[in-house]
Amino acid sequence: APVKTENAELIVPEGVYAEIVLSVTHYTDRLFRFRMTRPAGFRFRSGEFAMIGLMVEGKPIYRAYSIASPSWDEELEFFSIKVPDGPLTQHLQKIKPGDKVLMRKKPTGTLVLDALTPGKRLYMFSTGTGIAPFASLIRDPETYEKFEEVILTHTCREVAELQYGFDLVDEIRNHEFLAELVGDKLKHYATVTREDYPFQGRITDLMESGKLYADLGVPPLDPAVDRGMICGSTAMLKDTKALLEKAGLTEGANNKPAEFVIERAFVG
Ligand code: A2P
Repeated sequence: APVKTENAELIVPEGVYAEIVLSVTHYTDRLFRFRMTRPAGFRFRSGEFAMIGLMVEGKPIYRAYSIASPSWDEELEFFSIKVPDGPLTQHLQKIKPGDKVLMRKKPTGTLVLDALTPGKRLYMFSTGTGIAPFASLIRDPETYEKFEEVILTHTCREVAELQYGFDLVDEIRNHEFLAELVGDKLKHYATVTREDYPFQGRITDLMESGKLYADLGVPPLDPAVDRGMICGSTAMLKDTKALLEKAGLTEGANNKPAEFVIERAFVG
């Protein structure tokens, strides 16, 4: 039966957790991060997403959210856009520590290490909130057990939107266990498309021109050693996927591991 909590308004539906918000960080007027408690029995693979929700006028509203924290973390982290009239995010952007957020019990997703065949170098291509699943994977030791080099690309319209990614990488470099384990295996390549910045341009253009590889000091994509994960808008997925396929990589899935996997970033 549904559980009635101390908050009389919040009747938790079956098959759903109600977790407590621990912290909220607003990066821009369009982006924020929040952390919440993790239910004791909740297991997921780094890179997966869960359905996150709130009760709005007596009804639960859910959206798919990549879990941005790694699978070993005792808290759960999410990175979200704020859409002024977004059915969920217009409310979710107002949450404060102590508030309750709903989460359906079963996580899923394709951006998992198991969906890739073994390789040497793992590219994670992201735009906007598409960095979220990679925030999880770059904090998972298994990523560095499976790959010698991990390249996270993040492209946003504006410099302020890159901050979450910079904070993540700083956190890793200062983390008591991850710092040593990650060492210099992780490369963070951040670009913007609508503001002045030393690194500019869409990731697809930077791949086509070869500037991405030149800047990183790596050879162009090679299906023998390179693996990819892509997370962004529908258009970004399509264009980036086409470039990976042109380089000879094939798309994989949970039940059929191959050289790259894709997933749409959360939209609102
Ligand atoms: P641009 O500013 O040139 O559109 P959005 O917020 O619209 O999802 O965009 C996030 C980032 O993704 C922006 O830097 C945007 O560049 C870029 N982007 C949008 N569409 C594509 C695409 N088809 N391929 C690669 N990058 C894209």
